[in-house]
Amino acid sequence: MVTADVSVLRTHRGRDIRAPRKKRSLRLKVALYSAPLRVVLINLSWKLRMLLRMKLSAAQIAAYDSDGFLVLEDFVDGTSCDRLRARAAALVRDFDPEGLVSIFSTHEQTRTSDEYFLGSGDQIRFFFEENAFHPDGTLRQSKEQSINKIGHALHDLDLVFDKFSRTPEIEQLVSDLGIDDPLLLQSMYIFKQPRIGGEVTCHHDATFLYTEPLRLVGLWFALEDATIENGCLWAISGGHKLGLKSRFVRAEGGGTRLEVFDDAPWPDEKLQPLEVKKGTVIVLDALLPHLSRENRSSRSRQAYTLHVIDASAHYPANNWLQRLADMPLSGF
Ligand code: FE2
Repeated sequence: MVTADVSVLRTHRGRDIRAPRKKRSLRLKVALYSAPLRVVLINLSWKLRMLLRMKLSAAQIAAYDSDGFLVLEDFVDGTSCDRLRARAAALVRDFDPEGLVSIFSTHEQTRTSDEYFLGSGDQIRFFFEENAFHPDGTLRQSKEQSINKIGHALHDLDLVFDKFSRTPEIEQLVSDLGIDDPLLLQSMYIFKQPRIGGEVTCHHDATFLYTEPLRLVGLWFALEDATIENGCLWAISGGHKLGLKSRFVRAEGGGTRLEVFDDAPWPDEKLQPLEVKKGTVIVLDALLPHLSRENRSSRSRQAYTLHVIDASAHYPANNWLQRLADMPLSGF
């Protein structure tokens, strides 16, 4: 880009001395063509640099294979994080919770028979914190302070989420991790509300989003600083090598059930906190054991998660998360 600009200037200078009329003509041409050309070249250069910068090194890929996760700081700029937070706030503002008591909790598998939850694979739906309600079913605090998460097709149904989820950087990252034919399967906006943000018990994502062979990558974007106090992720480094412990599937007679292959407890003593700054993405192997603890602090810990599978893998019909035929999965 710089070379092209210098070349134009040199030519310009040469004609400036010898032919004033042509100089004006050339200046006009430069004015007409160089500005848009420069914008195009700058954008191309930026995208190229971003792509090069984000391309994972062999050491990073080796660390991901060894640990089962990868922390990439400054993956998303602050403005994009804030834009997503503002959009999520607007969605909650427009959400009418009347008559809906679908409380999300990994403690209560009975919730999974909730049609509202099972039908959310191709929708934008809202799930409350477990501790959001008084015994009589009324909210303890404002609607805005009571939502646990929004899921599970934000990336396909909302323009702001679509734009955030489909960037060249994410596409490159997923490609570097071996997903050759990506499909964006699921998105979640997680609030981890101050004081009542619920615990998510230890699990690996393959339990909920399973493919044969297992070709799933989870991306966890920190939209705010995540600390031990406000409920950051914890993970068992190398725990992805323990194998698949269970599958959460649709039951034949309706509802869901947990298919258990290995009921040995997780080696909790190996859990380590992943405290990260806003703008960081944590990449999660499908089998990596991870959790997040309650948020008793006065600060929220908002995050956005995206799960990507490979189209070459089989997606079982008994996975809990399904879509209607009129809204198929798509890539970047
Ligand atoms: Fe998870």
